[in-house]
Amino acid sequence: MSENTPAATYGSYLKIDELLALQQPRSSGPEHDEMLFIIIHQVYELWFKELLHEFDHVMRLLEADESHRSQHTLKRILTILKVMVAQLDILETMTPLEFLTFRERLDAASGFQSDQFRQIEFLLGVKSEQATERFPDGSRARAALERRYHGITLWDAFLRYLSRERYDVPRSHLARNVIGPVEASPDIQRILIDVYRRDPKNAELCERLVDLDEGVQEWRYRHVKMVERTIGAKRGTGGSGGAEYLRETVGRPIFPDLWAIRSQL
Ligand code: HEM
Repeated sequence: MSENTPAATYGSYLKIDELLALQQPRSSGPEHDEMLFIIIHQVYELWFKELLHEFDHVMRLLEADESHRSQHTLKRILTILKVMVAQLDILETMTPLEFLTFRERLDAASGFQSDQFRQIEFLLGVKSEQATERFPDGSRARAALERRYHGITLWDAFLRYLSRERYDVPRSHLARNVIGPVEASPDIQRILIDVYRRDPKNAELCERLVDLDEGVQEWRYRHVKMVERTIGAKRGTGGSGGAEYLRETVGRPIFPDLWAIRSQL
């Protein structure tokens, strides 16, 4: 620390004044419940940021063959995910009528437009060029999404790691086009069955990936239930069919091979 830099305080280090100035309701009054709505979304965005930070770390650890440390980081990710699911309880204390007091002031704003949520999806293999193009050229969000769109997914990092662990992962998987979806593969399933039967260290890693997959599905399920109880079958502010659209995203596995092998073990 240079002599001229003042010592950090809680307020200066965490930028509390700036943070507390970021909640700006749009409803007149403003309506009481809008504060909760803003804060909960901002908290989610912060958790998304932390998740991306941890996912990037897991990928680097897998690339460095640090299986133990990648499991440790995955456990942190899963704990955050649990908190994120639990937080939906808070928003469910808001009744449909309370939401209606300010809903029209949201215009087209919707979690649908969260670039960090899309970044997480991209990293997990759910990629879409259309989702990238929704953000203006040159924006932070567009640059981040383009980078993740062309980057490898967590599953790719895992398969490459398995290959270095001397599993016979076919080249077509190691050098696959990373833009495409992660598809189920009998070749990979055979390898995974071998891992589960004979390799407890890597089987444990697989189980953490299943936890992650289940955790994301759990969030999607709880979110759609919250949407159903708050707005019923109305269209979303983001322009989709609302709950109907969201229901299609629930139950779609991120790592299909890890689910497929369960019935073969
Ligand atoms: C009263 C509370 C909420 C309602 C009624 C609601 C409603 C909706 C609806 C209808 C959609 C579909 C897209 C659209 O047309 O808008 C959606 C998508 C989404 N919402 Fe919410 N939401 C709520 C709270 C939240 C919260 C707290 C988060 C946390 C960040 C969130 C994150 C998302 C995300 C990430 C999507 C995109 C999902 C996807 O495309 O798979 N929502 N929401």
